[in-house]
Amino acid sequence: MRHIPVLLQETLDGLKLRRGDSVLDATSGSGGHGEALLSHIGRSGTLICLDQDEDALARSRLQLDPLPGTKKFVHGNFRDLAQLLSTEGITEIDAALFDLGMSSEQLEESGRGFSFLKDEPLLMTMQKGATLSAKDLLATLSESQLMDILKSYGEEQFAQKIAHGIVTARKEDPIESTTALVRIIKESTPPWYSKRRIHPATKSFQALRIAVNDEYSAIDEGLESAFTLLKPGGNIAVISFHGGEVRHVKSFFRHFKERSLTRVNKHAIKPSRTEMRENPRARSAQLFIFKKAI
Ligand SMILES: C[S@@+](CC[C@H](N)C(=O)[O-])C[C@H]1O[C@@H](n2cnc3c(N)ncnc32)[C@H](O)[C@@H]1O
Repeated sequence: MRHIPVLLQETLDGLKLRRGDSVLDATSGSGGHGEALLSHIGRSGTLICLDQDEDALARSRLQLDPLPGTKKFVHGNFRDLAQLLSTEGITEIDAALFDLGMSSEQLEESGRGFSFLKDEPLLMTMQKGATLSAKDLLATLSESQLMDILKSYGEEQFAQKIAHGIVTARKEDPIESTTALVRIIKESTPPWYSKRRIHPATKSFQALRIAVNDEYSAIDEGLESAFTLLKPGGNIAVISFHGGEVRHVKSFFRHFKERSLTRVNKHAIKPSRTEMRENPRARSAQLFIFKKAI
């Protein structure tokens, strides 16, 4: 299923792009937001499409290449933004978008174990071929390290029980597939936990993905670099999907507000009921717009 860009109109309204702007799409994904950004900056503008997942970048290239306007496709982690853009000869940008997390294609088609609804190897690496995978963490971390990850990155209320379940299960067999992990989670939590609308493995899978990809440090470093590259008067839009991401986005703002960063909207912008109905993935999205003072 093709990824549907979330909070698209609200993002465009917030970025206030002009013809000829240079815009960074730090999470190019399937190029959904990118397509709309391109149409706003016109033929004289430049869209920098960055993604750490080669497959995602290939998808966005396929989508955006035929469209008018200059595009640069950059493979890498946005935590290395300054260096990646300087290699492309880019030293400043008019606006930036960070649409955090994963695309529908990564979840459903990557075969890398992001979805608890599929039977796949437990890799969870956003960058293909990355050396550290979820199965490595499950095989090597201590029970208390696993509990900390599940608690702090997933806010999983049964973190202790699940961590204990993992350490007990791996004595018998290595935990190498999504199905094996889902079974352990179900066996480690009370029966009612599996009967709710939310799948019992949701939070554990989120926590492991964040840990494998060191997502929070990447957000801190990526936003800081984007702020440095941003021209005065330029805007940064960040779409976040859960409490941990929101905390890091807010801490970026607190850190830079003394250096002329302002919040354009007092409260995070949330999707309309219609958008949530049409695209359930948008349900937890929150959009933040920041402006660098002139
Ligand atoms: C929610 S999707 C973006 C979807 C895109 N806005 C669209 O409309 O198609 C997030 C994308 O960001 C990428 N990503 C996540 N963290 C990243 C990071 N630290 N550096 C570079 N890309 C990252 C993921 O690989 C994924 O393709």
